[in-house]
Amino acid sequence: MPKNISSKIFIDGGSPQETRQAKVLLGFLDGQTTNPSLIAKNYTAKAGGTKLTETQALDEYKRVVRQMSGIIPEGSISIQVFAQEETKADEMLRQARARKTWIPNHSIKFPCTKEGLTAAEIACKEMPVNITLVFSQSQAAAVYEATKGAKYPVFISPFVGRLDDRGENGMQVVENILEMYTSGDGHVEVLTASLRGVDHILYALRLGSDIITCPFKVFKTWADGGFTIPDTSYVYPVGKLKPIPYKEDITLGKPWQEYNISHDLTTIGIAKFWEDWNSLLQ
Ligand code: G3P
Repeated sequence: MPKNISSKIFIDGGSPQETRQAKVLLGFLDGQTTNPSLIAKNYTAKAGGTKLTETQALDEYKRVVRQMSGIIPEGSISIQVFAQEETKADEMLRQARARKTWIPNHSIKFPCTKEGLTAAEIACKEMPVNITLVFSQSQAAAVYEATKGAKYPVFISPFVGRLDDRGENGMQVVENILEMYTSGDGHVEVLTASLRGVDHILYALRLGSDIITCPFKVFKTWADGGFTIPDTSYVYPVGKLKPIPYKEDITLGKPWQEYNISHDLTTIGIAKFWEDWNSLLQ
């Protein structure tokens, strides 16, 4: 496929084999996102129920991202910190500084919580960052402000599929963030994540999402269909999904702590990442 689209294409997963296959199919690959659940799933598929010590599990994460980095040395690879709702910013920063030594093309993922953004505000001056588990326009305003002095690339990851799963139009959050960010300085790249089907790719392309990260299964369906690109007549099939309207009263320009950053799906998501990672441990 010729690289004639403006969005960057990433693979979302925990398997370097998928990274390699995606690069072959597409002819290029701009990056990779991972998270503790995906790394744990990949390990369990390979090793069954064999449990690991904390050091072994961390080594496994490092081994996997190093392999991915070898496949796409020119791409960006997101590595996530391990955190619970109560994990302090200092602890996340400690992990981030260690993870950034794993591979040169790292981007360190922090959850969109008060502690996560406190850590990211400092980290974005030391390394590329990716703020994950984003579900609202208000969280996106906080991410923008917290990372305003960034010296490295900043990604924000709205999770569209998890909103769709409960009947809300996740793609509208991407749309809203992109609209709100038009009044900004462009320092945050919108990375559409948690995709469920090819229409998520097509609409994200249509909206001009800076980055789209595709689970391999969705990517393969897109590949099998010849990597369709939407034209101006493309209409996203919203179906019965409940709208998430743009909020005019949420604007950039305030201290990040003044925005409402709580979202129940962020709380649920952080607990699930923690649980999946800990399921690997002895
Ligand atoms: O990159 C985000 C992604 O891994 C979350 O996807 O399918 O668990 O909602 P999902």
